[in-house]
Amino acid sequence: MVPHEKGERIPLTICDYDTQKGTVSFAFHEVGKTTKELGCYNVGDNLLNVTGPLGNPSEVKNFGKVLCVGGSIMIAPIILQIKAMKEAGNNVTTILGARIKDAMIMEKEAKELSDKVYVATDDGSYGYKGLDFLKDLLKTEKFDRCVVMGPVVLMRDVSEITKPYGIPTIITLTPVMIDGMGMCGVCRVTVGGKMLFGCVDGPEFDGHLTDFEELIQRQRQMLPEERLSSLVWETSGGCKCGRNKA
Ligand SMILES: Cc1cc2nc3c(=O)[nH]c(=O)nc-3n(C[C@H](O)[C@H](O)[C@H](O)COP(=O)(O)OP(=O)(O)OC[C@H]3O[C@@H](n4cnc5c(N)ncnc54)[C@H](O)[C@@H]3O)c2cc1C
Ligand code: FES
Repeated sequence: MVPHEKGERIPLTICDYDTQKGTVSFAFHEVGKTTKELGCYNVGDNLLNVTGPLGNPSEVKNFGKVLCVGGSIMIAPIILQIKAMKEAGNNVTTILGARIKDAMIMEKEAKELSDKVYVATDDGSYGYKGLDFLKDLLKTEKFDRCVVMGPVVLMRDVSEITKPYGIPTIITLTPVMIDGMGMCGVCRVTVGGKMLFGCVDGPEFDGHLTDFEELIQRQRQMLPEERLSSLVWETSGGCKCGRNKA
């Protein structure tokens, strides 16, 4: 989406929709200039444009027993996956992960939709501490598929844990994107030794074949420019609501 004429185009994941009202919903973290700008918008404000959906649809069918793992802001779209997997007849176990207790979101929605829910935080302030409990869970329970959405390190760690059990693990990759249409090459990722484009070949890939270290490196390559852009915006009066003034 692009917020306004001078704005940057950023990729966000649809986390809900209403076919009756003709609406789609997004959930986002305010991490830099564009997401902070969007956070200043009020009900009734207009976005310049929203393009999509881009890429390929998620594979949803009756796999049997599915493990859905959502971390951080990507808990919002994993709720939609849980809903779809349940509607397809799967038994769904959900894991929600957050940095700290106060960052945990949508636990109620996950509990309403899933057969079982586990929560975990990085610091152990709520639920399990870290992902060690998943290693124990997989010793006693069999899953036919695992779907993970969240920070790259979470997708990497879950993929490493499920690999020895041969559980097909689908991750939603979030490389830096520009055009979103396979033209610029910025979103390239290496999966199974092949160079693929996140925007047209993804966003879902096999977590056991993904080169996570390359992805992490590529995500960080524009950090100095991103920080500068955010600072310039904050100090130049760009923030409409006053929360983001430097
Ligand atoms: C397919 C996909 C789906 C995504 N879904 C969501 C979502 O549902 N909710 C959400 O909060 N975030 C999502 N993201 C990440 C989101 O696009 C970035 O947080 C956003 O672009 C940051 O822009 P900024 O100007 O606010 O921050 P910046 O300061 O510009 O960047 C902060 C960090 O965000 C990432 N980023 C920056 N620009 C881009 C870009 N053009 N494409 C991808 N990543 C970028 C980089 O890792 C960067 O270090 C998704 C990313 C992808 C690729
Ligand atoms: S974003 Fe340009 S090729 Fe994918």
